[in-house]
Amino acid sequence: MKKLRFLILILFVVSCTSNQKKQTNQLNIKQAVEAKKGMVATAHPLASKVGTQILEQGGNAFDAAVGVQFALAVVYPRAGNIAGGGFAVYRKANGESGTLDFREKAPLAATYDMYLDEDQNVIPKLSSFGVLSTGVPGSVDGMIELHKKLGSLPFEELIQPAIDLAENGFVLTENEAKKLNDYQKDFLKANDSSTYFFNGGKWQTGEKIILPELAQTLKLIQDQGREGFYEGKTAKSMLAEVNANNGIITQADFDAYQSVWRKPVEGKYKEYNVISMPPPSSGGIALLQLLKGSEAYDLAAFGHNSAKSIHIMTELERRVYADRATYLGDSDFFDVPMDMLLDDDYLENRFSDIQMDKKTDSKDIKSGEVEIIESIETTHFSIVDKDQNAIGITTTLNGNFGSKVFVEKAGFFLNNEMDDFSAKPGVPNQFGLVGAEANAIAPEKRMLSSMTPTILEKDGKLFMVVGSPGGATIITAVYQTILNVVEFDMNMQEAVNATKTHSQWMPDIILYEKNGLDSLVLNQLQGMGHKMESRSAIGKMDAVLVLPDGTLQGGADSRGDDTAVGVN
Ligand code: DON
Repeated sequence: MKKLRFLILILFVVSCTSNQKKQTNQLNIKQAVEAKKGMVATAHPLASKVGTQILEQGGNAFDAAVGVQFALAVVYPRAGNIAGGGFAVYRKANGESGTLDFREKAPLAATYDMYLDEDQNVIPKLSSFGVLSTGVPGSVDGMIELHKKLGSLPFEELIQPAIDLAENGFVLTENEAKKLNDYQKDFLKANDSSTYFFNGGKWQTGEKIILPELAQTLKLIQDQGREGFYEGKTAKSMLAEVNANNGIITQADFDAYQSVWRKPVEGKYKEYNVISMPPPSSGGIALLQLLKGSEAYDLAAFGHNSAKSIHIMTELERRVYADRATYLGDSDFFDVPMDMLLDDDYLENRFSDIQMDKKTDSKDIKSGEVEIIESIETTHFSIVDKDQNAIGITTTLNGNFGSKVFVEKAGFFLNNEMDDFSAKPGVPNQFGLVGAEANAIAPEKRMLSSMTPTILEKDGKLFMVVGSPGGATIITAVYQTILNVVEFDMNMQEAVNATKTHSQWMPDIILYEKNGLDSLVLNQLQGMGHKMESRSAIGKMDAVLVLPDGTLQGGADSRGDDTAVGVN
């Protein structure tokens, strides 16, 4: 908290003293880290250390990613996970790229209207709290598939650091102690007072956490692979929680779960080739729409966080999020018109009514109808090794600590990813996102995501690995971080730190980080008709940039405990 207050103070000072192009890039909270032989940027220093140790032992970026995913499941339990899901985007040193979808799936017994009452109204919280909000987890299958295809060291060695952390314990950071304290009531409501993480709100910075049940579960995965999670003791422990609380997941769901290798969404933005996540993420398509739409404007000349730049970004975002709500869902179930959405003529036409000095109203908005939650509850990490193999993984339980249901006997939280479906067309989820038929619930379907792990190439070489948590704000945070480097000439750390804005069609507002814009810019935007609302943080990026001489530059977000560690 102190750190956050410090960040806000610095942002305030910077915004008061500077209205120059790089508004917040004088932030000195974290410095860009540079190294030649590898870079690991994650949300937690202990996870970054695990990643670099694996690189130092001769592992490649993909080995390190497996180690980091399991380490985050221990030290960052609010988003790191084994009972959640995620997406990986990778690029091998030889230029080959791909994506792995280990997103959760709706259980076989899920139904279209499972979160509606007899009057067809959405039952509050049913899709976001408790075992009925849990999708069939994908992370363990995902890591095993990732390792099988791209790993080089034995799997048992990659999961061992996570076992050590769970068994020997790790120390709570100030941010994580606070998070645990903030969620005490929820832990009690979803479990009972004997649940591990409930202590009446007394978690303290520096306190040691030991998770022997989780260590045991990780050992089962180490010994048995996917069976160690989807069968036997771990599966039984999960099903016991589910059955005791009227959940619908069964062993058949665990047996059927498989992650999927998917062709990336790929497209050009200026001289960059953008490689990103296809459906069931909306991220890759939306990001490319935004970047392509930006090409028509001289954003660099407008200036970073100037009224003109923010206005144009917002107008693009408005249209892109309207497309997201209408057309995007799991492409295994719904025919997503991907070619149309990325077609140059379509985009030119889509953005043709943008005016330079006046906001367009988002249609059919009833203001105040949609609320967007503030906290950052997913996690992204970016890794590049000495050969420039690269991977970005965004992984999540959805909300902080997911469904809040803690599987006591196995030591982990269950996700609440079902809330990412559209429970009813037009009714917003917890991120204020609306959807339609494309993202309606169906058995075994994957819920639409905004997670946007992304890799950029320049001149046929690796240029950047980037991604963020933040629900609906993920896409716009990634978009701005790329613009910050490409248009506004920032280094990776400056680009990550810079204050961000966000708009998403509905609600018809621009969100901006508290004290992050100067008052003149705010007035100018209001003058164009924009409604401005501040919030605490947008994005929490962990990214790697490759400099022209091949040096790797890490950027780890100052909004959290995020840490970039290099290998030299
Ligand atoms: O997949 C998604 O888009 C969401 N489940 C991500 C959730 C998230 O980023 C939460 N952080 N604010």
